[in-house]
Amino acid sequence: MAYKKISAEEAASLINNEDIISLSGFTATGCPKAVPTALAKRAEEEHAKGHPFKVGMYTGASTGESADGVLSRANAIKFRTPYQSNSDSRAALNNHDMHYFDLHLSELQQYLRYGFLPKPDFAILEVSDITEDGKAILTSAVGIAPTIARLADKIILEFNRYHPKELAGMHDIYEPADPPYRREIPVYSPSDRIGVPYVQLDPKKVVGIVETNLPNEIGAFTPLDGVTEQIGKNVADFLYKEMKAGRIPSTFLPVQSGVGNVANAVLGAMGSNKEIPAFEIYTEVIQDSVIDLMKEGRVKFASGCSLSLTSPVLEAVYADLDFFKQKFLLRPQEISNNPEIARRLGLIAINTALEADIFGHINSSHVLGTKMMNGIGGSGDFCRNAYLSIFTTPSTAKGGKISAIVPMVSHVDHSEHSVKVLITEHGVADLRGLSPVQRAETIIENCVDPSYKDILRKYLELGQKGHTPQNMNAALAFHSTFLQTGDMRNVDFK
Ligand code: COA
Repeated sequence: MAYKKISAEEAASLINNEDIISLSGFTATGCPKAVPTALAKRAEEEHAKGHPFKVGMYTGASTGESADGVLSRANAIKFRTPYQSNSDSRAALNNHDMHYFDLHLSELQQYLRYGFLPKPDFAILEVSDITEDGKAILTSAVGIAPTIARLADKIILEFNRYHPKELAGMHDIYEPADPPYRREIPVYSPSDRIGVPYVQLDPKKVVGIVETNLPNEIGAFTPLDGVTEQIGKNVADFLYKEMKAGRIPSTFLPVQSGVGNVANAVLGAMGSNKEIPAFEIYTEVIQDSVIDLMKEGRVKFASGCSLSLTSPVLEAVYADLDFFKQKFLLRPQEISNNPEIARRLGLIAINTALEADIFGHINSSHVLGTKMMNGIGGSGDFCRNAYLSIFTTPSTAKGGKISAIVPMVSHVDHSEHSVKVLITEHGVADLRGLSPVQRAETIIENCVDPSYKDILRKYLELGQKGHTPQNMNAALAFHSTFLQTGDMRNVDFK
């Protein structure tokens, strides 16, 4: 092979203080691991000598322990976008040790092409194969790989033999032209293939290839409990009723499902409800529950940006690639999360809220208004443009001390204008066509935990006039009471 083999340490030594690195992958799958780990070690060594060493970092979404984890602990990241979910990275950005820019995931590639963000110095790509003329086969995710491969000055490849070369054909790589030359993106059904199966690199930019054999770093899901199971069941029952009422066609519509435990449980429940026909998925992350549903014939096809599967499940997929290659396509995130396609296909978008308010606004990202949890991710890409946009959340957190439904969200990610339905373990609030007061009554009646219903009803009676009867003196009393007493149930509207 024409490329120069180098060690991860040699690769890291090419990267300088203040450089911008950009990584393949999406969630802790398909990301480089050896080079970021060596880079973190290098940063620690430089810091020990009293030298500054920090890099900027673009990724598809979150990464794993071997990128966000090690680099955050080494205090080696100057700024970062568009999403993270690592506890050390979360601590670093909440402490202002790194600047973090939370961005709709579909926008990052065009942000880079438009020059809204500086172009990366390095693209570090995990590949399962590469030809001498620069056709790179990615591994278990795509993320922003095609764009950073074109824009970066230099490319480092991590050739990860954990992933089989037979993955070739699972990726569909397509980059739209920029305005005013952009045409429609010709995806008319989740299985439509519109691009090529490889990322084209300029071989002259490849400064080295690092050989690895490392698994992805996707954590196991929390086992289903009564609450997540009931949320899943409520979603499935609601969608079945929508289909019976003729608002969803009997052939069903493609489903987008968000990240995390609740989202995994919701898809599982939809698959188990045999009154819902077998369906297709058009989403960003393909989580574990999809694989079982495919084997059972409940999911017909899944288009996504990443196989965000725990290692045993990914290995089972690799052991049966002939079957699964007919069932998946992995796309760049500007296509998997594309607003035009979400609107055209008529997605049923199901995402998870941290917090909702009684008027239908959603906070997906900030705990108690200030501390970043993960980020907005793709939830905004889908929620605003879906055929039917549903948010789910357990009605309480922290053993009931926090109500996930409050008078006014402490941070707004999705507004009342995009959110159509809210679902908790207690029930469904269908907000379509309702005024703010009607929405509040519906949410309190159907979704709120019984221990908070009377407090929220009292809030509504505080008597402020106006179309949306918020009370500016009390709107954030749930949050301030929690901060003062450790329990929102102590709130007292005199
Ligand atoms: N206030 C404070 N903490 C809260 C809370 C609230 N209102 N609601 C939940 N939490 C805490 C939980 O207690 C839990 O804490 P722990 O980790 O200390 O146990 C944590 O938040 C996660 O809650 P969980 O119920 O396990 O949620 P999840 O794994 O289903 O993830 C989100 C929920 C919102 C964090 C996750 O879906 C997310 O990051 N969404 C934004 C991005 C997105 O939607 N992407 C998908 C687009 S395709």
